[in-house]
Amino acid sequence: MAQLRTTKPYDFTPPKDLDGLIAMLHEALDGDEADVNHISAIMESYRSNDADWSKYVQFDKHKYTRHLVDRGNGKFNLILLCWAEGQGSCIHDHPDSHCFMKILDGQLHESKYEWPEKGKEMTLIGSRPLEKESVAYINDSLGLHRIENKSHTTPAISLHLYSPPFQMCRSFDQRSGKETWCKMTFTSQMGIKCSRLVSLPY
Ligand code: SIN
Repeated sequence: MAQLRTTKPYDFTPPKDLDGLIAMLHEALDGDEADVNHISAIMESYRSNDADWSKYVQFDKHKYTRHLVDRGNGKFNLILLCWAEGQGSCIHDHPDSHCFMKILDGQLHESKYEWPEKGKEMTLIGSRPLEKESVAYINDSLGLHRIENKSHTTPAISLHLYSPPFQMCRSFDQRSGKETWCKMTFTSQMGIKCSRLVSLPY
């Protein structure tokens, strides 16, 4: 697992396309240490181009979908998420993992919460729109979050990097803080549709 730290990002040439971005992420997360600001800067420098990622896009009218784009040599998962109008995630944690999220299309909204106190309503500590091309970052020490596509007219697409990859996370009920373990599943892997929702062994 790469130990992430924060320093000033150094200069680099932005990737030409999604494959270039993936190659840069492999390099940046290859060692035992990586840099949160640097990973964010790399993801931010990629200009979203639907010709790169449209092959992964597939919506479901009931729930946002998750598409595995790259396994990151076991160091990270790169996942494309498709959010139809009005869809959102539950409040959830990122078990000992770093979460970077770039908006490729549309607009999403992040609501951040404090870790719950047993039996109590959860406290909202931040709420903000996430615009196309921007990158958001969270880990468990910063709190919990939920992501929503609040638009009634426009779908949204995001690209998530989780390092290290995880198979399960906890979701939380906003009114009571009650937690439930959930399996992370994929609708497609490397552009190939799964016959059913699958989660991966690592
Ligand atoms: C999110 O809301 O951050 C997306 C969670 C996921 O990876 O399914």
